[in-house]
Amino acid sequence: MSSDMSVAVKSGLEGVVAAATTLSSVDGEAGELIIGGYRLEEFAGRATFEETIHLLWYGSLPTAAQLRDLMATLAANRPLPEATSSLIRSAAADRMTAMDALRMALDSLSLVTRTEDHNDRTAQPLGLIARIPTIIADYARLLAGTDVIAPDPELGEAANYLYMLRGARPKPEHVRALDTYLNTVIDHGLNASTFTARVIASTGSDIVSALVGALGALKGPLHGGAPGPALDMVFEIGTADRAEAVIRAKLERGERLMGFGHRVYKVRDPRADVLAVAAARLLERGAADPALYGLVRHVETTALRLLEEYKPGRRLQTNVEFYTALVLHSIGLEAELFTPTFAMSRAAGWTAHYFEQQSTGRLIRPQSIYTGPHDRQWVPLETR
Ligand code: ACO
Repeated sequence: MSSDMSVAVKSGLEGVVAAATTLSSVDGEAGELIIGGYRLEEFAGRATFEETIHLLWYGSLPTAAQLRDLMATLAANRPLPEATSSLIRSAAADRMTAMDALRMALDSLSLVTRTEDHNDRTAQPLGLIARIPTIIADYARLLAGTDVIAPDPELGEAANYLYMLRGARPKPEHVRALDTYLNTVIDHGLNASTFTARVIASTGSDIVSALVGALGALKGPLHGGAPGPALDMVFEIGTADRAEAVIRAKLERGERLMGFGHRVYKVRDPRADVLAVAAARLLERGAADPALYGLVRHVETTALRLLEEYKPGRRLQTNVEFYTALVLHSIGLEAELFTPTFAMSRAAGWTAHYFEQQSTGRLIRPQSIYTGPHDRQWVPLETR
């Protein structure tokens, strides 16, 4: 394209529709998220993560037999290749962040996808998705200086993840809360990481490359990296009486409040509501800290009021990451594991989008407007 400046540049691609999908629908004005035909509120608090994977990949909830098969395949694929384990140990010795360790380890899973049945559309994604929790849990334990724990094939995905992290069978209410969280973030239209996966898929590249690229996009604080800093803000505030002063100071400095605002949602993110309910359920069962829960609610109310004062008309509402922080903290996850745990779920969405994009056979390739100089003359090296 020429440097015709009359062409509007949409640098954030807002409003651009770049894919048709049967996987999920995000309505930013109605505050509605639909996955595989179901409103999020309908299934997130009831389904297991495996049921939602089935819904996303095959378009329907599984029968009991289908669910048993899917769970057995996932459980059988959890162990890591020795080279991946060794890489994780090196990353832990260097105290890399969990997201960097996960990205490196995920890349090394080409070792397994290379040998799996390439004609089976599910063998490769299952092989990858099943191993992501093992990578995260092993890494967390190595960082903490403890031995890794072998996965338990008797446990489902959420329970096994908590078991590998802690070495003890988790409480049912923690498993339920984690399943709800994993269901809530499994897919979300053409978000930045899913778009990245689809761009890579559109070139005909392999599924591991698509996942590694998507993971890199998820890591950033404007996308999946927000819940850790959101929790940091709550802890920095510490007590309800400090909320106004701390938040006001952040907004005065021009900082963004993590866990608020969204490119698509101009009303409250429905995922925030589902996770707020999950947090309240943990509280009812005595599995969450009432003081922290009360503080989080107060910080949210104060933040929304001050965002309206400092950014009037921008319609900045609570997003999924704010309550992610509360739910994952309440079930005992370190903040360092929030974004990797997000990736553990979203990888199911990325793989579904990978195949959907590939089936279109269409390369994603937008254009840019050149704004640099023209007609420069060559100057020989000795006279530059
Ligand atoms: N805190 C303070 N101000 C904000 C925030 C925020 N969280 N979000 C947006 N704004 C401001 C912007 O500075 C801008 O102000 P201006 O008009 O005076 O320049 C205005 O609101 C509009 O913001 P945009 O940048 O146009 O919003 P955009 O759609 O690009 O941003 C985003 C969306 C990146 C999520 C943004 O709201 C943000 O940075 N939020 C904090 C990070 C976060 O929580 N990310 C997780 C998102 S959910 C997910 O990805 C899973």
